[in-house]
Amino acid sequence: MKNFIVAIDGPAGSGKSTVAKILAKKYAMTYLDTGAMYRMCALYFIENEISIDKKKNIEENLPLINIDIEKDKFFLNGKDVSLEIRTPKVTGMVSYVAKIKEIREKMVELQRKISEGKDVILDGRDIGTVVFPNADLKIFLVASPEERAKRRMKDYEEKGIHEDYEKVLASILERDFIDSTRKEGPLKKASDAVEISTDGDTIDETVAKLGVFIGVAKEKKARREEEQGE
Ligand code: DC
Repeated sequence: MKNFIVAIDGPAGSGKSTVAKILAKKYAMTYLDTGAMYRMCALYFIENEISIDKKKNIEENLPLINIDIEKDKFFLNGKDVSLEIRTPKVTGMVSYVAKIKEIREKMVELQRKISEGKDVILDGRDIGTVVFPNADLKIFLVASPEERAKRRMKDYEEKGIHEDYEKVLASILERDFIDSTRKEGPLKKASDAVEISTDGDTIDETVAKLGVFIGVAKEKKARREEEQGE
């Protein structure tokens, strides 16, 4: 079978990365966390104290941002930043960075390049609409803001980061707003995506639901390729 692409989009905290990781393992696919790529860009501008408000700064610095991903480790210009990209500081800034056209163009190109010739599950906001509009399966994962804030609190607690619930909820709502209203690659359900709510579901239940869709999409692709004699 030609490379099989699964796009999982949805708002922050809907459970995308957790289920995508499990599914990728289960179906022997590559997992690409595209949010982590925007987070690395945000970290670059924070660490180097460069303002993102000036177009010149973006143009000059974009070629200096080198991103490497090895399994679940993220390298920014050779340095492992897997932990730094999850801090509230990066989380607070990343949606402003992800609004910038030039940054999005570079990330989208890189996402397509990384996926070349592979069976890949990508999670993000614009995978089904922009990065892979012809993906074999598009899932739009949703959950209520309150449930998503609770999950993000749990993530922070596990990392030893203390944050206030109201602050986390406000940050989620703010990011939803910025991500959905931006001009370039906004958070949007593709017209041919399957919408699944994770509210009240365990991770296993969501994984099982998505697994059914993956099975169907695989069969459909295999049948189509057979019909076309590929
Ligand atoms: O999924 P996440 O919380 O790690 O994403 C971080 C930010 O990056 C979030 O504000 C949305 C943005 N993002 C995006 O604009 N496009 C993607 N494909 C993935 C993430």
